[in-house]
Amino acid sequence: MVHEYDAVIVGAGGAGLYAALEASKTAKVAVVSKLYPSRSHTGAAQGGIGAALGNLDEDKPEWHAFDTVKGGDYLVDQNAAMILAEDAVRAVYELEHMGLPFSRTEDGKIAQRRFGGHTRNLGEAPVRRSCYAADRTGHMILQTLYQQCIKNNVEFYDEFQTTDIILEENKVVGIVSLELKTGEIHVFRAKAVLFATGGFGRIFKVTSNALANTGDGPAVLARAGVPLMDMEFYQFHPTGILGMGILITEGVRGEGGILRNNSGERFMERYAPNLLDLAPRDMVSRAIMTEIAAGKGIRGNKKIDDYVFLDATHLGREAIEAKIPDIADFCRTYLGIDPAEKPMPIQPTAHYAMGGIPTDVDGRVTDGTTLWEGLYAAGECACVSVHGANRLGTNSLVDLIVFGRRAGQHIAKYVKDAKLSPLPADAQDRFMVIKNRLTDGKKGPHPGPIYKEMQESMMANVGVYRNEAQMKKAIADVERLRQQFTELRLEDKNPQFNSDLLGILELENLLDLAYLIAGSALNRKESRGAHSREDYPERDDPNWLKHTLATLDTKGSADPGSHSIRIGYKSVDTSIWTPKPRIY
Ligand code: FUM
Repeated sequence: MVHEYDAVIVGAGGAGLYAALEASKTAKVAVVSKLYPSRSHTGAAQGGIGAALGNLDEDKPEWHAFDTVKGGDYLVDQNAAMILAEDAVRAVYELEHMGLPFSRTEDGKIAQRRFGGHTRNLGEAPVRRSCYAADRTGHMILQTLYQQCIKNNVEFYDEFQTTDIILEENKVVGIVSLELKTGEIHVFRAKAVLFATGGFGRIFKVTSNALANTGDGPAVLARAGVPLMDMEFYQFHPTGILGMGILITEGVRGEGGILRNNSGERFMERYAPNLLDLAPRDMVSRAIMTEIAAGKGIRGNKKIDDYVFLDATHLGREAIEAKIPDIADFCRTYLGIDPAEKPMPIQPTAHYAMGGIPTDVDGRVTDGTTLWEGLYAAGECACVSVHGANRLGTNSLVDLIVFGRRAGQHIAKYVKDAKLSPLPADAQDRFMVIKNRLTDGKKGPHPGPIYKEMQESMMANVGVYRNEAQMKKAIADVERLRQQFTELRLEDKNPQFNSDLLGILELENLLDLAYLIAGSALNRKESRGAHSREDYPERDDPNWLKHTLATLDTKGSADPGSHSIRIGYKSVDTSIWTPKPRIY
């Protein structure tokens, strides 16, 4: 089945919906999404959107941009950070006017709370910058934007897994997607395609990411020859629910929550004397792992199952129920703990990819040399780059509303003069090669053990701390698993809602991205932000103040066992602030 649109948006989270909303003001737009839109992972973002509204403390976009650059350990492109901070204010007010139910101050303004690394006057003191709707901010963004898209007649193709991009040279022709309900293949022909498929935290064993976060967009583009940028920088959020990884928002610390080790000590006093528990995430996660390694975790056994406490008992029940009601519910449901009475057991959890599909500030896919015409990306799957080596809390929601909105505006202009390109005869071929292999009647292993081993190896070897031996081990593991992947066969041949097939397609995406993450990480011989190497503990600006571009060299083969990685670089825009050591 072939469909034709001006623009196709792949993914229905905040970035995809904002882009669809903007583009649909003048263009015919479809959203093709693996999930029903309001189930997208944006809904899991709890604590807020950073924007220098200055409702409670004096604030300026310039200060927000500076914090973003410093928090990202100076790997951030600085003009992009200025755009992020300035447009954040516009986008937040626009969302307010669309009806997003923000929490309010006593005088009726949008309420704001503290978040890690956000400061007043270039680092002077913490600032209340995060605009929130209790601890359901992402959920409210989804509801608001989805309603607006429906009003604008955006057409939705829900529960469609996109398997391929169709390019003619470097120009977009369309995409290939699998309809999960029927098992039918659909080809979407479009002048512009935007990928907004979110993150890929499922590569790691302990993660805050939903099952669906399998990096479908970046993996599809990597196989089509688009290099992925800064993949070595993967963020571990300090406070995941012990063992499960489910996010406990930084908003808990923003409201006054305190991290404590096994003697009840507020250990962040030793690591970040000024910002304490609200230092940037890479620092807090490292501090927790260092405490655990020193036997100061709660069990004191220095092992992977050790943890520390997040203490909110002093905040009082009333504040907890008003400001972090979902967190209180999660703790009661999953841990049997009431956070008003007992501290929460937490450990760092794989949370956010700073790297991804390289774009300019209008969402156009470019590595600085090649521009893929009509191809766009926004949100977590993209790398603008505004997060550099470590993203500040709240800047994920800022990124997706700012750059989703900007990409949608650019798409609206681009498709006015662009033409649909002719479809090649072999548009569905790559998918059919895989499908035919999976159903050739041979017997193969189950994907479960491959998935599990990838997650365990990436968690153990490319986690908060890493070194050469560990990363080489991860690469060897992933290469072996990619080889085993080619032996997989479908057990369930039913076309309708074939979760066996979907799981294998997702696993291929995860394996490709795990390979690129581990390869990029091994290549970068320094420590910066979330990439913390035991064997190269210092930041090395003379040699490494540059973005990584990692290309998956498929050699034209659908067999992952034959693929390799090529590394290139792109310069960082440091035109506003000179890189300095990070002291908090
Ligand atoms: O902690 C949180 O609420 C997460 C926010 C974020 O990742 O920006």
